[in-house]
Amino acid sequence: MIARLSTGVAKLDELLAGGVPEGFLVALVGMPGTGKTVTCLHFVWAGLKQGESCVYVTTEESRESIVKQASQFKMDFQSAIKEGRLVVIDALMREREDEWSLRDVTVEEMLDKVIAAKKALGRGCKRLVIDSMSAFWLRAPVRAREQSYTVKRVLNRWGFTIFATSQYAITTGYAFGWGIEHVADGIIHFRRTVANGVLRRYLIVEKMRQTAHDLRAWELDILDGQGLVLRRPLARRAEDEALPPDVMERIRRFASKEG
Ligand SMILES: Nc1ncnc2c1ncn2[C@@H]1O[C@H](COP(=O)(O)OP(=O)(O)OP(=O)(O)O)[C@@H](O)[C@H]1O
Ligand SMILES: [Mg+2]
Repeated sequence: MIARLSTGVAKLDELLAGGVPEGFLVALVGMPGTGKTVTCLHFVWAGLKQGESCVYVTTEESRESIVKQASQFKMDFQSAIKEGRLVVIDALMREREDEWSLRDVTVEEMLDKVIAAKKALGRGCKRLVIDSMSAFWLRAPVRAREQSYTVKRVLNRWGFTIFATSQYAITTGYAFGWGIEHVADGIIHFRRTVANGVLRRYLIVEKMRQTAHDLRAWELDILDGQGLVLRRPLARRAEDEALPPDVMERIRRFASKEG
């Protein structure tokens, strides 16, 4: 039996045959606004609810923004911080007097802080979020792979199960540097599309080692007061979206005639 940690989203646990194997580094990758951060919040909240302590590294949003976003989904990060069960390492605001801020956005400094947080939080600290890794590679995308290895190797020794996000550029659809996908034990890919004039988001588990995971793309909603909810498997195949609009239109016409 493999020990698995709940992602905090019941349906996602189902897709993962019970959850994420303990000690894994899971990459959450995809376009802006697709649910990566929200999923990280669920993962941390699942730990906090069970009395664990957690570390959350935020590079593109301030600590305040993360706490506020969590509270909109009824996750009380503020109290957990006060109780000394949650450390949010802020790499955006870089406030000099703040114990848990990064001065420079480097992987080395981030690892030092995470280990310091782990020592402060103690043995019940199993979950770590790094949201996002892309910030460390903006100027040196070629370092992505090597640094992903370092992160995995160093933090694995400290007993963490890690959710690390990585952004895909809206212009190219590619990651800022390649690396984390290969080093990661699991990949959850978040996508978006506009269907009938409405933004739709979905996720697909592209990889999860040692797991007979679901292979379908699932439509998701992000709901106020609730967070991320998986709805249903996408009816159309993901690659259908690559078809030119006139071809799609012909298929639609043909399908309605048939119906
Ligand atoms: N209270 C809320 N109620 C409903 N939807 C919300 C709420 N708060 C945020 N959202 C939705 O969640 C989206 C943000 O999702 P999230 O922060 O997880 O994106 P992300 O994938 O991390 O993007 P990025 O790569 O830009 O950080 C918002 O654009 C909005 O659509
Ligand atoms: Mg985000």
